[in-house]
Amino acid sequence: MAQLSLRVVWPSSPLHNPARRHHLSSPAPPFLSLMPRLLVARSELLRTSPVSVEEEKRALEAVVVKESAMAGSGVFTHIVDENQVFKYYAEGEWKKSASGKTVSIVNPTTRKTQYNVQACTQEEVNKVMEAAKAAQRQWARTPLWKRAELLHKAAEILKENKDPIAECLVKEIAKPAKDAVTEVVRSGDLLSYTAEEGVRILGEGKLLLSDSFPGNERNKYCLSSKIPLGIVLAIPPFNYPVNLAVSKIGPALIAGNSLVLKPPTQGSVAALHMVHCFHLAGFPKGLISCITGKGSEIGDFMTMHPGVNCISFTGGDTGIAISKKAGMIPLQMELGGKDACIVLEDADLDLVATNIVQGGYSYSGQRCTAVKVVLIMESVADEFVEKVNAKMAKLSVGTPEENCDITPVISESSANFIEGLVMDAKEKGATFCQEYKREGNLIWPLLLDHVRANMRIAWEEPFGPVLPVIRIRSVKEAIHHCNASNFGLQGSVFTKDINKAITIGDAIESGTIQINSAPARGPDHFPFQGLKDSGIGSQGIVNSINMMTKIKSLVINLPSPSYTMG
Ligand code: G3H
Repeated sequence: MAQLSLRVVWPSSPLHNPARRHHLSSPAPPFLSLMPRLLVARSELLRTSPVSVEEEKRALEAVVVKESAMAGSGVFTHIVDENQVFKYYAEGEWKKSASGKTVSIVNPTTRKTQYNVQACTQEEVNKVMEAAKAAQRQWARTPLWKRAELLHKAAEILKENKDPIAECLVKEIAKPAKDAVTEVVRSGDLLSYTAEEGVRILGEGKLLLSDSFPGNERNKYCLSSKIPLGIVLAIPPFNYPVNLAVSKIGPALIAGNSLVLKPPTQGSVAALHMVHCFHLAGFPKGLISCITGKGSEIGDFMTMHPGVNCISFTGGDTGIAISKKAGMIPLQMELGGKDACIVLEDADLDLVATNIVQGGYSYSGQRCTAVKVVLIMESVADEFVEKVNAKMAKLSVGTPEENCDITPVISESSANFIEGLVMDAKEKGATFCQEYKREGNLIWPLLLDHVRANMRIAWEEPFGPVLPVIRIRSVKEAIHHCNASNFGLQGSVFTKDINKAITIGDAIESGTIQINSAPARGPDHFPFQGLKDSGIGSQGIVNSINMMTKIKSLVINLPSPSYTMG
């Protein structure tokens, strides 16, 4: 599907202001390298003859189609219908929903409809579940090495098609172009690693002998191994619609499960492209499906569906509601955080400032592991704020196509929510280190100093480029603040004293504590888990594979005890 909106610039957009792009040192991803050619094509058209807007559009589309694989074109042609609506994937085929309805996806930058996807029905969900069940029975009988081989193939195809998929991420979720490509490549690597871990973890079982338990002789041999759960329902969030889908799909499939994906609305089109890479790899029909649609119509229906044997969800507090409604099935949930960075007097403040800016503002703070509050010792707070401000002044603000550091947040309602937190802090006396500025969904990065516990931003997750600083007088105060939070995803301690770092790290009720670095989920094979309202269970490749299996035992009962060499 060739679209004019690939162009970097929207001349009429308030965002189009090259002055805002302070630095663009990294090379543009290949799909952006089309830009000069497109702009040349446009200027040539304008030079040769006065053309209508429609003629210009068609000519530009021709250039695009000829020169690059784009979203919905090339190998992805089959995933979109004649009206440019993306189809859903079921029973190994790309289909249009019988509902005849679509869901529109708004581009956060232009705030206009970018894509449309199918609004699937409950009946279609039922069919997907039936097909998934049948496919899973066969898949569980497929040798492990073959499952791994297919995952490697999907990883390869995914990476080959990083550009069109990244293009969707840029347009649907305003992810900076370079980060969008990284997300796809990271996902391919994750899949390959999952295939490799899978053959090791699942290729081993356990032998237990009965005479280790009091009162028993050695007459029972227990052979236990891991078997699949059945159908895994994967629900990833908008901020990583590819990577956090693949981190669920890979473990589910290698373990012999089938997989039903419900992508986030914004991020659906990237997810559909990613799913097509599995289709091209040759996975059996029905084993993977991708259902798009309105949460109000199919959300609860899917999460409460009797066919589902496991739910892996990443997102907000919707996960709490899902966990209350889901039946007696394993749940893997990651529901966000309010990750604190504790900075002690002896910390390397340059290292801290680099990590705070990277950790607090990358992808405009829309990461569950973003730094969400800084707790800094009063004696070094002024110097810290000065260093952070200097780095923030270098952040580029603008469009994801331009690869800016700060891009529009996901939606207008999200921008309004962030603004609400900022205004609440202002009314209650926080110091703004920069002027608060917003245009549409684009919010300029802001550091709020002298934040206090009575401000909402001290506790709530903005999911935006605004970061509160709370000045503390003791370590005890910092630990108290962290542990008073409902969240417990990650946290950081910056100090040169490893003994203090370990003691503080142990005292904080969070799934992971980083020492001298900002929070982060990756590398993707590390365990990743939230305590309290941040989640249930642990992710990371090995943990996800284990979570998506159950243990089955065979006990060999001998008529009389048998001892080695005996
Ligand atoms: O948004 C939640 C993600 O799990 C964070 O992942 O630390 O790689 O950005 P990340």
